[in-house]
Amino acid sequence: MSSIQTIQVHTTPAYQVSIGPGLLAGCGRQLLPVLGPCHVAVITDSTVAPLYLDTVAASLRDAGFTVSTVVFPAGEGSKNFTTLSTILEALAEARLTRADCVAALGGGVTGDMAGFAAACYLRGIRCVQLPTTLLSAVDSSVGGKTAIDLKAGKNLAGAFLQPSAVLCDTDCLRSLPADVFADGAAEAIKTGVLDDESLFALFEDGTLTAAPEEVIARCVRYKAGVVERDEKEQGERKLLNLGHTVGHAIEKCSDYTIPHGHAVAAGLAIIARASEAFGWAEEPIARRIAACLAKNSLPTGTEFSAEALAEAALADKKRAGSDITLVIPQKIGACELKKVPVTELLPVIRAGLEG
Ligand code: GLY
Repeated sequence: MSSIQTIQVHTTPAYQVSIGPGLLAGCGRQLLPVLGPCHVAVITDSTVAPLYLDTVAASLRDAGFTVSTVVFPAGEGSKNFTTLSTILEALAEARLTRADCVAALGGGVTGDMAGFAAACYLRGIRCVQLPTTLLSAVDSSVGGKTAIDLKAGKNLAGAFLQPSAVLCDTDCLRSLPADVFADGAAEAIKTGVLDDESLFALFEDGTLTAAPEEVIARCVRYKAGVVERDEKEQGERKLLNLGHTVGHAIEKCSDYTIPHGHAVAAGLAIIARASEAFGWAEEPIARRIAACLAKNSLPTGTEFSAEALAEAALADKKRAGSDITLVIPQKIGACELKKVPVTELLPVIRAGLEG
C-alpha cells in the first residue's frame, strides 16, 4: 500500500485521512490499530451495498471485528427521521455499546446520516467514514458535520462528530457514473474558487488534468486546515458553504431531485454573478466560473425563481436573526464572508440569476 497518502486532521478527536487504492479491501487491517477490537455496524445504501459491502464486512471480520450491517434505500429522500430511526433501532438490536463503532460506507447522504446515528446512539459512539464518491471524498467525509434533512430544509437536524478515521479508496471512483463524478467535481471546483486557482484550473478544460488522488488530497488538506481552526463553524468554516445558500435552496425547491453537487454548482455560478453585479468581486470571475462548471457537465443556473429560492434559503442554518452570512467570491482563489440583512438576499439572488 505504498501509494497511500495520509493527512492528519488535528481536531477532537484527531484522526487520519488515508487516500489511495485498495483501502476498502484492507479496511479491517487499517482500522484495528485505530479502533481496537470492537463491534462495527456498517451502514450503507442500496446502490453501494452490492458493490462494496461484502468486501468491507469480510475485511473487518478477518481483522477480528464483530460486524453487523444496515442497508437503506439510496437517495437524498432517505436522509430523514424514518431512516435514522431504522438505523438507531438496528444498532440497539445488534447491541452495540459505547465501545463500538459505526462505519459509513458510501456517499454524502450515507456519511451524514450514519454519522448522525453515531452521534445520537447512546449519546455518541465512534464513527469511521469510508467514502465511495468523489463528493464524499473531497468534502463531506472530513470535518465531522452529520445531519438529516427536515421538511423545512436540508441538514437542519444534526451534530458535529469528528470521525475516528477516513479511508478513501480511490478504486471506487472508477465505477462512478459521470453525473456522480460531476457532483464531486463541483465541490472540488468550489475549493479551487475558495483557495487555490491552480486546483480550479485542473478542471477548466473539462477533462480532469490530474489524478483524482491529487485533487482529493488537495481538497482534504485545505478543508482539514479550516476545520482545525474552526471546528464548530463559528467563523472561517462558513467559507466552506460557498455556493451552498442558493444550492441548498435549489435542492429544497426541487424536492431533492437535483443532486447536491449540481445544486452547489448552480449556487456557485449565481453568487459569482451577484458578486460581480454588486461590485464585491475584485476582478471578472463569473464567466470563468460558469465556463468551468459547464465544461464539467454542471449547471450554471436554475429554473426556480429568485423569490422561491430566497424563501427556501431563509429557512437555512446560515441565517442569524435578521442577517444572513453569504460567501462572496472576490477572485478565483479568494472569498470573503459578508453578513447582509435578510432583505438583501432576494436582490442578490435576482442579480445572480440575471447576470
Ligand atoms: N461541507 C461544508 C463543511 O463541512 O463545513
